[in-house]
Amino acid sequence: MHRKYSNELCPEMDGQEVRVAGWVEDVRKLGSIAFIILRDREGRLQVTAIKKEMGKERFTELITLPRESVVEIKGKLQKSAEARMGFEILPTEFKVLSKAEVPLPLGVVDKVNAELDTRLDNRFIDLRKDEVRAIFKVKSLVCAGIRNYLLGNGFVEVHTPKIVFAGAEGGATLFEVEYFGRKAFLAQSPQLYKQTLMATGLDRIFEIAPAFRAEPSDTVRHLSEFISLDVELAYINTSEDVMQVLENLVAATIEYVVKNGEKELKLLNCEVRVPKVPFRKIPHRECLEILKSMGWHGGVDIDTEGEKLLGEYIMQNYGEEFLFITEFPTELKRGTFYAMRKDENPELTGYFDLDYRGQELTSGGQREHRYEKLKTQMLENNLKLEAFEPYLKAFRYGMPPHGGFGLGVDRFVQKMLNLTNIREAVLFPRDRLRVTP
Ligand code: 4AD
Ligand code: MG
Repeated sequence: MHRKYSNELCPEMDGQEVRVAGWVEDVRKLGSIAFIILRDREGRLQVTAIKKEMGKERFTELITLPRESVVEIKGKLQKSAEARMGFEILPTEFKVLSKAEVPLPLGVVDKVNAELDTRLDNRFIDLRKDEVRAIFKVKSLVCAGIRNYLLGNGFVEVHTPKIVFAGAEGGATLFEVEYFGRKAFLAQSPQLYKQTLMATGLDRIFEIAPAFRAEPSDTVRHLSEFISLDVELAYINTSEDVMQVLENLVAATIEYVVKNGEKELKLLNCEVRVPKVPFRKIPHRECLEILKSMGWHGGVDIDTEGEKLLGEYIMQNYGEEFLFITEFPTELKRGTFYAMRKDENPELTGYFDLDYRGQELTSGGQREHRYEKLKTQMLENNLKLEAFEPYLKAFRYGMPPHGGFGLGVDRFVQKMLNLTNIREAVLFPRDRLRVTP
């Protein structure tokens, strides 16, 4: 007999023999009868144990099981007006698959909210809560929506190495690893590889994979390991072509989640809005003016507070949640050695950030594909060209113009679901202080 999930059973199956399994969420004892709430992936079931039917010993064994023990139960489904689901299971046989220790390190049905750290320390139990699991079902839908859109638009999914020869996003956040007596690094982003692939004929690619950054500060939006969606496309004219792919992708992905994640979004009490394309674009210099008029006291770099204010600005003035900050000044992108500067004004790049609800979600733009210019920009950053030779080589034998972006998938989920901390959108988050569980 096949095991059934709770949502596969209904009162109309009255009288049928069924087999179910799950965690003992709660036991209510009323003398010679007891109600056991059994929880599985899909929901809850009521198992009604009757001493007279089961025999004293088996009855006692079942109803004294500690909470969160795992049992398999065979029994008869019986229609019942009193049971929450309109039916109950009368056990004829049961098997204890795993007995839980007492006390639990974290409650599943407790009313009091545990601290995030306690929850993360006991993540396997934390994930037994429906609303916590729902976050990861949404995350799965986000990835499915991304793939659905990109594969449908001529992009090829690739996998680039995570143990690499050089960093691409600045030395400060590089994790070094010992690699058979040599020095290697954990990939901060697939940047060098996705650009290299533009010289191959795989001219529209994407990757969804972990990226590693030794982020020195503890914030609610940075982790030392995160999931990056990277997209790269060749034969573009300007950064505008990249922004177009990005906005269509983001809108299509949100639409996919809204369509397929109705149950999860309801459980999480989230109203997710499908944005209209094209997204609003405001050049970086104009953003600074807007911020000054709002009393912001930053310099040229738009910080967390600035992003938040801009998010409020576009929400209040236009009712929008997405904003492209375009034409980043070269001054701010100098460290991004691969960013193309404008030929007509080298003080500006075509680089952009896409902000979602007042937080950076994506950075991207057109890359410098001209070998000599790229080399000059790298030298400006004091990079040793020999160390980057495997990358540079790809620019000497026919490299089409190209561009792309990196989008933080965990951040996307965080903002979509209004989660205070990015860690809530990651099963087992990694940060400066946490490498377990
Ligand atoms: O802005 P970043 O650093 O850009 C790049 O990695 C470029 N290679 C992208 C490109 O193609 N030009 O990272 C891209 C995105 C950020 O906007 C953010 O959403 C996310 O990745 N991200 C992080 N998410 C969580 N924790 C961290 N430490 C993150 N660092 C970046
Ligand atoms: Mg960025």
